[in-house]
Parts: sequence; C-alpha cells; structure tokens
Amino acid sequence: MEKKKIDWSNLGFDYQKTEYRYVADFKDGKWNEGGLTTDANVVINECAGVLQYAQTVFEGLKAYTTEDGRIVTFRPDLNAERMEASAARLEMPVFPKERFVEAVKETVKANAAFVPPYGTGATLYIRPYMFGTNSVIGVKPADEYQFRVFTTPVGPYFKGGIKPLTIRVCDFDRAAPRGTGHIKAGLNYAMSLHAIVDAHNQGYDENMYLDAATRTKVEETGGANFLFVTKDQKIVTPKSDSILPSITRRSLIYVAQKYLGMEAEEREITLEEVYDFAECGLCGTAAVISPVGKIVDHGKEICFPSGMSEMGPVTKKLYDTLTGIQMGRIEAPEGWIQEIK
Ligand SMILES: Cc1ncc(COP(=O)(O)O)c(C=O)c1O
Repeated sequence: MEKKKIDWSNLGFDYQKTEYRYVADFKDGKWNEGGLTTDANVVINECAGVLQYAQTVFEGLKAYTTEDGRIVTFRPDLNAERMEASAARLEMPVFPKERFVEAVKETVKANAAFVPPYGTGATLYIRPYMFGTNSVIGVKPADEYQFRVFTTPVGPYFKGGIKPLTIRVCDFDRAAPRGTGHIKAGLNYAMSLHAIVDAHNQGYDENMYLDAATRTKVEETGGANFLFVTKDQKIVTPKSDSILPSITRRSLIYVAQKYLGMEAEEREITLEEVYDFAECGLCGTAAVISPVGKIVDHGKEICFPSGMSEMGPVTKKLYDTLTGIQMGRIEAPEGWIQEIK
C-alpha cells in the first residue's frame, strides 16, 4: 500500500477528508449490517433529533504506525465502553462493543494510506459518533440513529517543541452534579465554546473547571483530565462523577504504578492543594500529556516549579513511557495495543 503524498510533519489538528468511512443505521429496534462508504456527507431530515435536541455522542482515538511498521490502535475497547455509557445516558441505543471495535479497525484499514508513517509525530485520528436521525418535534428520544466512523490524519501535537500551558480558573461551570459531565456528548462541548473563546481572548490556553456545587474542587478542562505530581513524587488525579473518564489518564495511572513504581491515587483535589504541587499536566488522546506551567486564579498565580519552558521530570517520564507503549518501543500490557491487519 502506497502512502498518500502528505507533508506529515506539518499537519495541524484539522479535518482532512480520507477515502472511507463506516456507517450503520438503527431502525425498527435494530442495527443494520453497516459497512464502508466513500460518501462523506450526511443527509438527514430538518427535524432530526440531533439537530433539534442535540442527541449525539462521540469518541476520539488514534491509529499509529509502530517502530516496526505495524498499524495499531490504543485500547479501542475502552472507547467502545465509554460510548455505550454515553449513549445510555442520552436514551440512545448502544452500538455493541465488538462491532464498535470492528468498525474502527475496518475504517482504519480502508484508509491505511492516510496513516502517518512512524517517526513523523503525526497520527490518524479516529472519530466514532452516533446521532438521532428521524424527526422529533416533541422533546423525546429519536427512534432512528446513525453510527459513523471517520478518520483524519493529524499532526504532532507539540510542533516546534513542548510549551507548558497557562490556564485560568474558569468562572463558568462545565457540568452539574448528577448531570452529563461524565459522558462524551456534543452538548458538553457546545456549552464550553463560549468559555474557551473567552479564555483565549484573555490570553489563556485553557480553562480549569471547578466542581459546580462548591467551586472548591478541581474538575477538568474542556478537553482533558488533570494529573498532578506532589512534592513527594506521588501522582494524584481528580476523582469526580462529573468529569469524563479519560482513557489516557487511566492508562497513565497504570503506567505510573506498574512501570515506574510510583504511588498514584485518584481522589478529590481542592484548588487550595494545587498551590503545593510540583507538576501539572493535562491528559487526553490529543497530546497524551500537555504540561501546565501556570494556573491563574483571579489574579493569584500558581507557578509550578517545572517552569514555563519544559515538561516536569515526572510528567516527561510518564509521557515517554506511554508514547513508547503506543509506538511499540516498550512492551504493552495485555490487550492495550490492537493491531490492524
Ligand atoms: C472533556 C474531556 N476530558 C478528558 C478527555 C480525555 O479523554 P481521553 O484520554 O479518553 O482522550 C477528553 C478527550 O477526549 C475530553 O473531551
């Protein structure tokens, strides 16, 4: 298979159409067989549930070329499980886990020419999603749905070197207690757009959301979970029912404990405590870990000892180990790496 002529190292995080995408439809209480199509357009009724009442959920994961030239994905079964939870919370039918993983693999395989070569830093981003397609005018769940998977090559996250982020404590809330913060639904992202545009206008890279009930505990940003390193070299990460259970964060905790022999704990973390931490990072599929150099809390600055020019030493070790596992340089735990053949 010949790779597409793409300037891999200069790709950004933008949509670029690839050849194939997967589509399956849910009608009369069941999913049809589904399959690949070259048609990138979705045509639905003007009154479709997704357009009127935002009944849509999605996932995000990547395919990589390993050092020895295999194409692999990272823990797609966990994305499948999370999408099941997201769908159930929005009264959508579940797209079965095994079919989800198969659909992801089939789509990546069909677009193998777009999977960036090893060493370019680029990857193939995979976007599974599902939405209500039939008309609903009274507020209720749709009866018909479409599940799709498309892919798009994306560039290295840290183009031109790693730059620690500056984030602000946000005055908007992301998720209510007992709300939908723990699922990957479009609605959580629509409401975060104003907060992120405002943060960028004020010169910040990201928002730190606090728990909506007490506004004392750290939740997450609009697109990543927090991970902190304490001064005595422990990893701590916020525990909350209203944050998205990041697959990267769960994997990093395992890596810290089992590969690096560190203590790692998921627990409630107050904003007050953050002043004493040694390192801070944001974890998610996009960057694995982006270092945070500074958090600004209404004029008060929390400056991490790791500084504004590089990743902290523990963050770097975690980053190197997890990316090593993903790229096939370090042996992966059973089932983490799924090869596409
Ligand atoms: C709100 C939010 N939190 C956390 C994450 C990180 O999750 P993951 O590591 O599964 O990509 C994402 C990105 O998917 C996200 O959108």
